[in-house]
Amino acid sequence: MSKHPQGHVFYRRMAHDYPVIERGEGVYLYDAGGRRYIDASGGPLVVNVGHGVGSIAQAMARQAAQVAYVHGSLFTTEALEAYSRRLAAKVPLPDARFFYLSSGSEAVETALKFVRQAQLARGEPARDRIISRWGSYHGMTLGTLAVSGKPSMRAPYASMFQDMPHIQPPYCYRCPFGATWPECGLACARQLEDEVLRQGPERVAGFIAEPVGGATLGAIVPPEGYWELVGEICDRYGLMLIADEVLTGYGRTGAWFAMQRFGVEPDVMALAKGATGGYFPLSITAVRGTDVEAVRVAHGDFNHGGTFSHHAVGAAAARATLDYLEGDDLVGRAAALGPSLGEQLDEALGGLPSVGDVRGIGMMWAVEFVADRETKAPYPRDVHFADRVCARCMELGVLLYPGHGSVDGVRGDHLMVAPPYVVTGDQLEVIVGTLRRAIEEVADVADLA
Ligand SMILES: Cc1ncc(COP(=O)(O)O)c(C=O)c1O
Repeated sequence: MSKHPQGHVFYRRMAHDYPVIERGEGVYLYDAGGRRYIDASGGPLVVNVGHGVGSIAQAMARQAAQVAYVHGSLFTTEALEAYSRRLAAKVPLPDARFFYLSSGSEAVETALKFVRQAQLARGEPARDRIISRWGSYHGMTLGTLAVSGKPSMRAPYASMFQDMPHIQPPYCYRCPFGATWPECGLACARQLEDEVLRQGPERVAGFIAEPVGGATLGAIVPPEGYWELVGEICDRYGLMLIADEVLTGYGRTGAWFAMQRFGVEPDVMALAKGATGGYFPLSITAVRGTDVEAVRVAHGDFNHGGTFSHHAVGAAAARATLDYLEGDDLVGRAAALGPSLGEQLDEALGGLPSVGDVRGIGMMWAVEFVADRETKAPYPRDVHFADRVCARCMELGVLLYPGHGSVDGVRGDHLMVAPPYVVTGDQLEVIVGTLRRAIEEVADVADLA
């Protein structure tokens, strides 16, 4: 059933045989060949409420029939106003304001521009650098690649963007400082201060990071004290703190927003995936009302664009998703189920020779693979260990999200397990059991190779 290159779709992966998905329901996807898959990661951690939720589809249809599109620089809609009121009560930002676009990349790009403009409004025109972290991912545009720390995605385009300073991530399994927490003294957080001083504090506009490192390194949960220290350093040097919650927002870590777990208030948040759980491509940049007011006073407007910004159908989808999350207390369910998912993964996989680390939080878990548990040596890249495990899981009816590059940007394999919050205990057992079987099978072949 291969569709590439015979058809007219320019697919993302040219060698992949694309099954045609016909429908989804809860954690399940069904293809045209009659196969059923458990969607245990929602692609790159998008599907939080599950597939086929009728109330979300109906809310979108109603809004589209009423009015689908108005230009964001001329009109507003009740859908947008009502959703924004609801969201303002949830995010850890005082008097929040929301700028709506269509992808996580755009939400981050908006965050970068907003921070720059807010610093201009504060009378700090030299502040045009945003410090970020290696081992991060913030988006596909040139601006967001400049702050991303994923070498393989940056490489072909690196000469086309203005690079930004990067510091090391809180990646305890392979600590970049060769240290162990707490003896490390949070060297990774302290490096932010070193970098600010190296750049010159008057040049640095902000710091961007994922509250829990997402797809690039695989669910790296920062050690206790990390975010408090980062917050203090940002305050000390006048940096605006951007929390990229594109992946962690809307309950993925067991809290509505991951920064709430760490007790630190950012200045700006980027949100996307879970806002509509995949029902509409909507992203949100959340900022403080006081900063918006400062920009208004200094410049009249925020200098930005977006034909599809502030979309009414997106807002209706987000509102219905919020209703569904709240109505069934799905964030509470994610918080309750998360630790048992972690325990099951640890128990089933922790002892396997090719599993180096099982880590995560809430409904966001990763398994990192190694060729040697003692030395933590990764498999050679051409083994494609995580890709093969995910391909085997797919054959067995379970969908997971692979990643690579944790060691040096190229070598190092992991995969992510992040099912919709509606997943049941029985389904979790199937996911974990299938994953164990696939790892054992792939390891047998890889070790012989
Ligand atoms: C933390 C984070 N930021 C930004 C993005 C980019 O979002 P999008 O792919 O919707 O543009 C992603 C995507 O995976 C992400 O995980």
